[in-house]
Amino acid sequence: MASETRALPDDWGRTGYTAFLEAEGLPVVRGLAVDDLAAVEVAPWPRLEAQGAYIQLTGTEDTDNAYILELPPAGSTAPERHLFEEVVFVVAGRGSCEVWNQAGARQTFEWQRGSLFAVPLNTFHRLHNGSGRHPARLLAVTTAPLMISLLRNLAFVFDCPFDFTDRFAGQPDYFGADGPVYVRPQSTQRIWETNFVADVYRLALPEWHERGAGGRHMKFELANNTLVAHSSEFPVGTYKKAHRHGPGAHVIILHGQGHTLMWTDEHEAFEEIPWKPGTMLVPPGMWWHQHFNTGPTPARYLAIRWGSTRWKLTRYLDHQGIDRSAKAGGNQIEYADQDPRVHQLFVERCRANGVEVRMDAFVAPTAR
Ligand SMILES: [Fe+2]
Repeated sequence: MASETRALPDDWGRTGYTAFLEAEGLPVVRGLAVDDLAAVEVAPWPRLEAQGAYIQLTGTEDTDNAYILELPPAGSTAPERHLFEEVVFVVAGRGSCEVWNQAGARQTFEWQRGSLFAVPLNTFHRLHNGSGRHPARLLAVTTAPLMISLLRNLAFVFDCPFDFTDRFAGQPDYFGADGPVYVRPQSTQRIWETNFVADVYRLALPEWHERGAGGRHMKFELANNTLVAHSSEFPVGTYKKAHRHGPGAHVIILHGQGHTLMWTDEHEAFEEIPWKPGTMLVPPGMWWHQHFNTGPTPARYLAIRWGSTRWKLTRYLDHQGIDRSAKAGGNQIEYADQDPRVHQLFVERCRANGVEVRMDAFVAPTAR
């Protein structure tokens, strides 16, 4: 016989990650996008002895997250380690990072504005601002929401005495940016296995034909992670094909000016996100999205996201079929199949900016 019934406690029905965010006590930025990463307001972050803010965008569906960390001039973070993956992009400033494991294997490397690196899983790490005059600002994307919600024990997540030597064993060239570049069969996509990229703003990107309009691209497999990154660039007066995939792809605009459209099959209306360098957006899972360069320079972005080529996770989070037409069972819309309003809006925006449209080779005249 069951005992008496009770009212559900008020604190049921939330994730472990939500409880963690509340306990951290930092500002939390929400929505579909952040207009400018450099302008996100930060607050004191006692745990790291720095300043910070969390970014919990709708399109992550709480599978991954982001935060801003700001180091004061000549400041350093308190050492920490954690059982979630972390990929870091430097928004402003320069400095160094120490990484070490419990066995004492240690590496130190330097970073600057535009650097991209991964902190290997559960390694201790500490960031130092190399300037005594200016703050340094870093953006981190992490798998904390999934890990914390599954484990729900912060002492374990932040103080687990285990060295993942399959990820980091103190190799002297670990952050040397000299790993192999792979290419898929029947594809021109390049995949670079590296743990450090010195400057994503200026990295030479090879061409990737399948994704349309003369685009360039490099994918980064970092620190033996499931969380990876890529950078794409597309020329003046062009836009990429629409595509869709699972949640959690943090797209950070590096160069250029334009907009991104997002929509679902069920909704006629488009969400339009205008962007410029410093904007970050996350398309929700399986929403169609399409990036448009309407400014006078090539547009380049960095995406930190699920979808490792090396380590598959689950079909919803892996980026499958994003270079294959939806008509052939893929997750891409060919130019010939797109809604005519998409191209019309692009032409209007280019005209307003005095930019010549260069899509003639890609979009049939009937679509214009
Ligand atoms: Fe995407």
